[in-house]
Amino acid sequence: SRTLKLAVIPGDGIGPEVIAEAVKVLDIVVPSTDLVIEKTPFHLGVERFLETGDVLSEDDLAAISRHDAILLGAVGGKPGDPRIPAGIIERGLLLKLRFSLDHYVNLRPTTIFPGVVSPLAHPGTVDFVVVREGTEGPYVGNGGALRQGTPHEIANELSVNTAFGVERVVRYAFELAAKRERKKLTLVHKTNVLVNAGSLWSRIVDAVANEYPQVSVDYLHIDAATIFFVTDPARFDVIVTDNLFGDILTDLAAAISGGIGLAASGNINPTNAFPSMFEPVHGSAPDIAGQQKADPTAAILSVALLLEHFGYAEAAARVNDAVAADLSERGTTVRRTSDIGDAIVARLA
Ligand code: NAD
Ligand code: IPM
Ligand code: MN
Repeated sequence: SRTLKLAVIPGDGIGPEVIAEAVKVLDIVVPSTDLVIEKTPFHLGVERFLETGDVLSEDDLAAISRHDAILLGAVGGKPGDPRIPAGIIERGLLLKLRFSLDHYVNLRPTTIFPGVVSPLAHPGTVDFVVVREGTEGPYVGNGGALRQGTPHEIANELSVNTAFGVERVVRYAFELAAKRERKKLTLVHKTNVLVNAGSLWSRIVDAVANEYPQVSVDYLHIDAATIFFVTDPARFDVIVTDNLFGDILTDLAAAISGGIGLAASGNINPTNAFPSMFEPVHGSAPDIAGQQKADPTAAILSVALLLEHFGYAEAAARVNDAVAADLSERGTTVRRTSDIGDAIVARLA
């Protein structure tokens, strides 16, 4: 057997509710593999911050780093809560993990499961993956504010794009595209305005494309990409894009595929030098927290991504199939978070 040490960060709001279901699914599926999962819970997020002033200490980070993978629910408070400085949890916890653990691939697959109603009348066959860069772009925290609170305030956020950082994520995207049926890669950027970063991304895509003649490559500006996400999402296969564009596009992707409650993600360090982190795309949803209203499907599908990451494709497929079956039977019935988890577990048992 193989032991996998899993750090579990339920986090805030609906995070603990959806993670409870994801863990149930993991526990039911793992005995069919040679895996033994040792879970360590980490109490991190808003509550911990309000109690102690800590967001993620060096000790926490070191302890988490000693695991093989991370399962995270969601973190962050209600936007505008006066007790929580803006971004302190998001930057200090979530992004701190992504950056420190070098999660340079933020993998966000989108498909419309059979029976799921898309808000699009004719979405076609939607099956694409957004490869979102995870360690650079405007997320790095470079920049600052000058003369804050005055009429002459200057507020800067600097988007950092390095040849090294862009090339490694672009290579990952080509490798992924080459393994898929349609072998198509779309770069999404804003080369007509962000000319420096845009030029770097374009040149790297063109250069790497030479090594993958079997992959067809095209390019869309981010604004046009949002049009096609709504009018013709079936045209996409693999999309590679920067951190911020990828963030926005993947909430849109979730919406067209039937809802944010279905969208899973993996923050991957492909070298396995650091633990990768699996989490739903959604946030802590303060508007529905604590009411068992959240859909745990995204968290459960994130477990499938985790299993796949470690080479357990069959176990991952069983989870996906159980979710697909549940979704196709679900229709428009509203169920509690734990009922959805239980129904999926029952299919796997
Ligand atoms: P959100 O994703 O939490 O919620 C947006 C909307 O989607 C809300 O109406 C919510 O009820 C709904 N929703 C989200 N998840 C759902 C689910 N599983 N089932 C059913 N409905 C669901 O985004 P937000 O409101 O912009 O952010 C709330 C907090 O979460 C903020 O503090 C934000 O910073 C944080 N956040 C964290 C993460 C993360 O931890 N990865 C991601 C996004 C936002
Ligand atoms: C996401 C979230 C995060 C992001 C926030 C909470 C920092 O929106 O995982 O998509 O922007 O990456
Ligand atoms: Mn987001």
